[in-house]
Order: sequence, then structure tokens, then C-alpha cells
Amino acid sequence: MCGIVGYLGKANAPSVLISGLKRLEYRGYDSAGLAILDGDKVLVSKASGKVANLSERASINWPPELFKRVGTGIAHTRWATHGPPTEVNAHPHLDKTGEIALVHNGIIENYRALRARLEGKGHHFVSETDTEVLSHLIGDCDKGDLFQAVCDALHQVEGTFGIAVISSREPGKIITARRGSPIVIGVGDGEAIIASDASAIVAHTQRVIYLDDDDIATVTADSVDIRDLNNVPVTREIAELGLDASVAEKGGYEHFMMKEIHEQPDALANAIRGRLDLQLGSSVLAGMSASQRELAELSRVVMVGCGTSLHAAMVGEYAFEDLADIHAEVQQAAEFRYRNPIIGNRDFVVAISQSGETADTLAAVKEAQQKGAFVMSLVNVVGSTIARETGRGVYLHAGPEISVASTKAFTCQVSVLLMMALKLGRGRRYSREEGLKLAREIDSIPELVNRVIAKNDLIAEIAENYVKDEHAFFIGRGPMYPVALEGALKLKEISYIHAEGYHAAELKHGPIALLQPGTPVIAVACEGPAKDKTLGNVEECRARGARILGIITEGDTNAEEVMDDFISIPKAHPLVATIPAVVALQIFSYHVARLRGCEIDQPRNLAKSVTVE
Ligand code: AGP
Repeated sequence: MCGIVGYLGKANAPSVLISGLKRLEYRGYDSAGLAILDGDKVLVSKASGKVANLSERASINWPPELFKRVGTGIAHTRWATHGPPTEVNAHPHLDKTGEIALVHNGIIENYRALRARLEGKGHHFVSETDTEVLSHLIGDCDKGDLFQAVCDALHQVEGTFGIAVISSREPGKIITARRGSPIVIGVGDGEAIIASDASAIVAHTQRVIYLDDDDIATVTADSVDIRDLNNVPVTREIAELGLDASVAEKGGYEHFMMKEIHEQPDALANAIRGRLDLQLGSSVLAGMSASQRELAELSRVVMVGCGTSLHAAMVGEYAFEDLADIHAEVQQAAEFRYRNPIIGNRDFVVAISQSGETADTLAAVKEAQQKGAFVMSLVNVVGSTIARETGRGVYLHAGPEISVASTKAFTCQVSVLLMMALKLGRGRRYSREEGLKLAREIDSIPELVNRVIAKNDLIAEIAENYVKDEHAFFIGRGPMYPVALEGALKLKEISYIHAEGYHAAELKHGPIALLQPGTPVIAVACEGPAKDKTLGNVEECRARGARILGIITEGDTNAEEVMDDFISIPKAHPLVATIPAVVALQIFSYHVARLRGCEIDQPRNLAKSVTVE
């Protein structure tokens, strides 16, 4: 949810920290702050709102020569969890003496008890945050060794943390630690940069170290010493990021979202590359790390996720049942973790997450592991917490997804789920002929998406007819039902139009009462077993004056006749067609939001990665 940056170098720490925060701003952006070490003083500057406000505030508070000479600092961009997004609640937070500063991602579950104990010892708090309690606790534990003070404080903490700590008593070092919230350390030449996300590091170095849960590191400009919380040294390998700085830029597009929509053919090609067996009509997914025999013994697939990832799972449900004859179900991750699920060792649990940091999905993974299921993950961010927790899975290889509204991650998730279902199916009753046919269709997905992207201008024109609407209905059946849900999520989260997705058959059981003349209904009516039924539902809506935008298959003149507007997509297997269909809805939603002047990449109230419950 929030972004952390720490820097140790020869100079220019404030500028490095602020530009790092800008790379992380998509993760959470309702307030920001930074703390620097100037000689024996900790200087702090904070601002509510975007990082640009902090940059302006710091430039007012500190003279240019200070910006230049300071080499150590930490910074934070916040998505509020405890206390409103005010300057007082912004991080960094200080200890009682003002000589220790802390930035923190995560939630301290027992912060109230800790705060009461510290208040009893004379501590006073200025903010409503759990983080300030931790900064005071570290100060309270400091007996002259900052590393040990942080260890002792963290031993008292219940909850999750990704932190960076500096102290004027021990200049030239940052203590950083993690439990349930990612920390990456960039190892540069005479400099080190700590961040909650590699996109803040990529401009400095490709060499990174991912901390594991309960790792704590002492970082200087020239060294990284990692231990566990019992002060026992641990070894963490230096990995190569393999990203270039440009990926964090917009590449000429007005918004990251449109850049990432256009990246989909390449992202999908990366997700599919080397994973199809066009001889056997199957797929090759090393990350599933199980033999066909082991997979054949599984009795059920349970997919867990949130938001867009949940919608991808819903497409996967149809894929696993249609292709692999295996019972498949989808559970909202937060529901799964609290319902005491009936899960056992013959269940195949797949955790789906773009960020790999969604708290509810991570908790669902742990619950499934606790119950002995065969658990794997489907994530995009390499080295993310969910990927490391499951230790088994398939990376999307979609590249960094910066825009809060997920696009390429969804289409890559669905593509990989199709390949997983194909692999399972070919170990069961799915024939080689069927497998070969589907494998070839999966291989063609990048081209199918390219053909939809080529309709961008047409879709932009159609979008103009929906800019003034405040309500919209999305309907679909079969695997196009989750596509309708995903289209509604896209439109609502970036244009703020109240858009809802329904199973097409569900409208007449209540929601159709909301239809008035002119109400827009977006019908996902591509070729498939239920298409004609969906067209029937379209007629029911038209009879009540609704305005229909159809997502239909190229050449389907019957469907064209009942639509006021339509976007046609290439003909494909119904499961494969979900991907070009959703791309049409992504582009449609983008243009409606753009025409409404919305803040597309960072919608109000949202953050890219929801690392809290
Ligand atoms: C998607 O557009 C949203 N930003 C949101 O629903 C997101 O899909 C959800 O928070 C899950 O995130 P994850 O895939 O990183 O776990």
C-alpha cells in the first residue's frame, strides 16, 4: 500500500529519495515525508497529498546546499491505514528524543497496548498512527546499539512490517527489516538504496537483495549485513533485476494504463513463450513442479484472489472444468481465510496476485498450507511475498504494472490459467487433437489482442457516447460473465461511473428494475454456447429503453442488429476470446475516464497493492 525508500551515498540524498518516491507513488499516495541526517541532527519534512507537495515543502524548508551535502535519508509515501492522511500522520515518525526516525509499511496489530505502556513511561504521541508507537519503542529500547534496539522492539511487535530506521547517534547506516511487507536492497557502487519495490531502485542498480520475513539488515553505502531477529547472520543472494529504468516511465503514453494496455501483446508473448508443447498439445509449466501423476491425483482446484485477480480466477474456473474435467471453484481470498475452508491434501490451491503482496491472498495461502493443500501461486512480481511463501508457482512475466487499474496482469493471468488447465486436462481426458487446437489458439493470443488494440480510435469514438453516464450495467454468461465483472471494475475504478457487472440471466431477478430509457448496458456477447441467451437478455434491456454496447465476434451480423454500438473482436475459442474481449473493455473504460478528465493511473481512494486487511 505504501512506498518506502532509503538512501546511503555520498550526497544528494533528498533528491534521490524524492525521485524514488515518485516511482512508488502508485502504491499509495495520500501523504509523504522524508528524514535526513545532517551532522548530528535528524531533519524531517512532510506533506499531505502527492509527492510533488513534499518536494515543494522540502525545497522551502531546506537550502540547496543542504540537499547537496546530505548522503543519508529515508522516505515514505503513504496510503492511510491508521489515522487520516494528514501531515502529522505522515511518515517518517520520530522517537521521544527526535534522534531516531522510522518509516514503516504494514500494520502493528498490538500498537494500542504498546502505546499505553510507553505512555506510562512518559512518552507522548503526536499522531494517531501505529508507526509512531514503533519509533518510540525503538527509542525506548536503544541502549547505544541501534541494530539491537530495532531487534528488541520488533520482538515485541505483532503484525506486519517493512521498515527503515536512521539515527543521528549512528550516522551512515540504515537498519531495515521486514515481516509480511517487502523490502529490497539495491547494492550500488559506493551507494545503497532500500525500497519496498524494485521500481525505485532500477535507476541506480540492477543488483538487489530481497529480504525474507524476520530478516534485519544493517546497510551502509558499502556493506549489507543481514541477520535474523536473534542476531544470527543469514545469507541472502544478490539477484539481477533485469529491468531498465525506462519501464518505469510512460514511454510516450499519456498514462501508464494505456502504456500497459499496449504492452499486452508483448507481455502475453512473454507469459506464453516456452510454455506450450505444440507437439503434444499440452503446456510446460515448470512452476507447477508436479508430475502428471501427482496432478492426476488432485480432486479439486481452488483459486483464491482479490479484485481483478479474482475475476481471472473466475475465468480459470471454467477452464479447469471444461478442459480438465476437474471440480474448480473460486474463493475471495479474505472470505477463504476466515471461513475455515474444507481443504485437504487432494486440493490444488492457486493463489493469484499481480503484486504478490495482497495481504488477504497471502493469508489465504498460509491457511491452505496449514490444511495440507498443494499450493502454488500465479504472480507477476518476482520475489514477492506470495511467490516466496508458496515456493512454487508460475510468474506472469508481464513486466511492472504501474497503473492501479490492472490490465496486462489480468490477460496474462488468464493465459497462464488456460495453460495450467490444458496441462491438467491432457493428463486426463482432453485429447491430443483438442489440445493441439487449443494450444495453437493460446499461441495466437498476442495477435488477437493486437487486432483489438488496433481499434483504439474506434473505441475512443464509441466512448464519447458514455462519458455523461453515471450508471452502467455489464452483462455476460459463461466465461464472459467474469469478463463483464472485470469490465465493470475497470470502468468504476478509473471513471467513477457506478458500473456493476451481472450474470446476464440475473438482471430479470431484480437489477432490471434499475433500467431506465438510455441506461447503458454493456453486453459481452461473443460467440459461445450462451451467446444467443445473452442476446435475448439484450432484447429484454432494449424493451426498457436501455442503450446497448455490445462486445461481439467479428462478422456476427445478428448481434450487430440489436446493438446501439458494438466493438467486434476476432473469433476464438470461448475461453481464449475472454482476453481480446476484456482488452476491448479496458480501452473503452480508459477513454471514458480520459474524456471525463479523471486521474486514471492513481484513482482516488485506491492503491496498487493492498497489503493490509
Ligand atoms: C484491479 O484493477 C485493482 N487494482 C485491484 O482489484 C487488484 O486487482 C486487487 O487489489 C488484487 O491485487 P493483486 O492482483 O496484486 O493481488
